[in-house]
Amino acid sequence: MINHKGTVVLRTERLILRPFRLSDAEAMYHNWASDPEVPKYVSWDVHESPAFTRELLKSWIAEYEKPDYYNWTLEYGGEVIGNAAVIPKDKREAAELGYSLSRRFWNRGIMTEAVSAITDFLFGEIGYHRLCIRNIRENPASGRVAEKCGYTLEGTEREGFLAKDGRFHDILSRSLLRDEWERQKAGAGDTVRTERLLLRPPVPSDFEAVQAWAGNPENTEYMSWGPNTPSDTAAYIRDCMTDWASASPKRHEFVMERIEDGAVIGSCCVATEGSLGELGWILHPGYRHMGYALEAGRGLLRYGFNGLGLHRIRAICDARNLPSYRVMERLGMRREGEFLNARCTRGEWSDGYEYAILKEEWES
Ligand SMILES: CC(C)(COP(=O)(O)OP(=O)(O)OC[C@H]1O[C@@H](n2cnc3c(N)ncnc32)[C@H](O)[C@@H]1OP(=O)(O)O)[C@@H](O)C(=O)NCCC(=O)NCCS
Repeated sequence: MINHKGTVVLRTERLILRPFRLSDAEAMYHNWASDPEVPKYVSWDVHESPAFTRELLKSWIAEYEKPDYYNWTLEYGGEVIGNAAVIPKDKREAAELGYSLSRRFWNRGIMTEAVSAITDFLFGEIGYHRLCIRNIRENPASGRVAEKCGYTLEGTEREGFLAKDGRFHDILSRSLLRDEWERQKAGAGDTVRTERLLLRPPVPSDFEAVQAWAGNPENTEYMSWGPNTPSDTAAYIRDCMTDWASASPKRHEFVMERIEDGAVIGSCCVATEGSLGELGWILHPGYRHMGYALEAGRGLLRYGFNGLGLHRIRAICDARNLPSYRVMERLGMRREGEFLNARCTRGEWSDGYEYAILKEEWES
């Protein structure tokens, strides 16, 4: 059931999203509407004068009377720097979002912050069933905003947009359904309990704990990724939540939460390809040598074989990573291969080991 409320003020960590005022015209014109780079890939044209912006704002402000009109300006540090709006359409319970931002503020996560709050508002408070974001292929930043907000790529409208360069461009369409959003919000996904640990999907409040182990260069020495910047870690958590919210996740990523005190001490994963699985794990250095990786590994094997119905599970590691392959051996996995100079980590070649276990071996 949809229950329109109009463009109400929304607050995020860095932004106030609010209705436009006529006094915003100058700033809107100078900050983004007069910059030809901003509307390069969208349907509106660069504004020829502040007077044009003012007239446009007058028409937008008149629309605020309608309860189903949603058009926010993004106020950042007292300055208006962009807008995000529901593109008016006939569909009652489905909406498309559009947005533009002053070039000075690109690539700082600003639009992601705005679209994420607007998505929460439109699903949580208004009751939309489906939201979508469309961008032309040559505008990956916009697609990335949608992805980071949990939208899934659903298709390409081939040559669906005649751009200002006079050529037809493909439109990529991403959408998010209400139940997917609800699952994301609830931290959707499975959990696995072991004697001392709860393995559960990561949520945004795990950020500091995850960054403590993932941002530490010594801790990620043998990993193919890292050390993480804070934005890598934020993206990792968002990607995990998106994976878990999908109808059939291929990556089952967990954080290890210690039952005794709720400490988040590491993360682990079962990635799947058909009935084949692959395990991975990393602990905070302060929680090593306590048997937690082995305990998590046992939980993951049980989850993989019994929960996901896998047939064979493997694990790979850098051959210098003795603690990790000792865990594989203690899990009953067999070393199946040693691959010479097969891994290149931050420019350095090293050998790798692959271990595996079949379901019948695990059961016996
Ligand atoms: C699209 C737009 C609103 C993005 O705003 P923003 O605040 O810069 O977005 P964010 O910083 O939240 O996210 C941008 C993401 O795109 C990525 N990105 C930027 N340029 C990219 C490129 N050329 N290739 C791949 N990714 C790119 C950034 O790295 C970032 O992703 P990350 O956080 O994973 O690193 C802004 O670029 C804009 O106003 N563009 C012009 C208007 C427009 O295109 N509107 C959308 C029409 S569909």
